[in-house]
Amino acid sequence: MTKDTKVFYVSEKLESAPLDEAAKILSQGGTVAFPTETVYGLGANALDEKAVMQIFEAKGRPADNPLIVHVTSRDDCESLVRAIPEKASLLMDKFWPGPLTIIMERKEIVPDVTTGGLDTVAIRVPENKIAIELIKRSGKPLAAPSANLSGKPSPTSAEHVIADLSGRIDAVVDGGDVIIGLESTVVDVTSEIPAILRPGKISKEELEECIGEVKVAYDDKVHPESETVRSPGMKYTHYSPKAGVILVEGDNEAVVCRIKELLEDLHMRNAKAGLMLTEESKKHFSGVESFSIGCKDKPEQAAKSLFYGLRFLDLKNVDIIIVDGSFDPRGIGAAVFNRVRKAADMIIKVR
Ligand code: TXA
Ligand code: MG
Repeated sequence: MTKDTKVFYVSEKLESAPLDEAAKILSQGGTVAFPTETVYGLGANALDEKAVMQIFEAKGRPADNPLIVHVTSRDDCESLVRAIPEKASLLMDKFWPGPLTIIMERKEIVPDVTTGGLDTVAIRVPENKIAIELIKRSGKPLAAPSANLSGKPSPTSAEHVIADLSGRIDAVVDGGDVIIGLESTVVDVTSEIPAILRPGKISKEELEECIGEVKVAYDDKVHPESETVRSPGMKYTHYSPKAGVILVEGDNEAVVCRIKELLEDLHMRNAKAGLMLTEESKKHFSGVESFSIGCKDKPEQAAKSLFYGLRFLDLKNVDIIIVDGSFDPRGIGAAVFNRVRKAADMIIKVR
């Protein structure tokens, strides 16, 4: 597979020419990566089997892991789902456009490849204007998983997409860095009590305020292949850089102490370490390759820098990345912990 991957630059001004060219590739069955507010997605016409198969091929994604379908409004959903349940309707009113994916029963028109053979489909209306404009101009609902090689950290810039997928996809729309940095919250409304299948910026509390009780149906482990899980994505390795990842969780002071011990140990073994540190921890370390994940009380900063930092330190060829887990686990912090725990080869809890 060697494609000549085109790069289209689009700013907030939503330049027509590059958007039209990218949309044309999509409407003709090609693959185009584009920015959303969460992460970059790799798009193709969700209703075209052949087009969707190219997404799986380009990413090396397991065929049973379904894709999220991106549309421009709730009206677009009506042709894709059998009905819009009352609770889904409330969620759409409150959180769309935005980082919330809703799972509903699909209509036949949505092919098996898109849903991994499930009789449900995941849908979201992104908030990013470039994404919306691209969907509109292509005239198709766009299936789009994160635009990374399967198993790697999700891409938060066009450079990340190019690093993983250049030569494997038809084009990338470069719209700059994303705003949120972590994938959308996924909620399944097909059961009596809706269930969160993946945490994201929109928290359990916010969902409950809108529709009442919501179950948590994810955990922070990677489940082995054989287990039956509700969201196929839960089974697979995720967010892994080349380097090994150690997460140290706990109070800031205790975390700093433990990271110092780990560094000594790694030094003795001639292993090169890279650190992802909160602003509060930074002053305790010098002379070590490091990347800031923001203030510990601002988990939205950790969300925005997590995937970016993992890729940044990988490029510095470190052997081990140590992540400072002393940031606030509430709100989007829960989603950051979910991703970094899944990425981690070792989790150390200190107090
Ligand atoms: O923020 C996002 O959601 C990004 C941007 C591009 O929109 N997309 C994204 O897609 O993260 P992806 O494919 O990397 O993750 C989709 C997740 C997977 O964990 C998948 O298993 C789950 O959603 N999923 C999709 N359809 C499903 C379904 N019908 N039932 C259960 N889980 C589903
Ligand atoms: Mg993904």
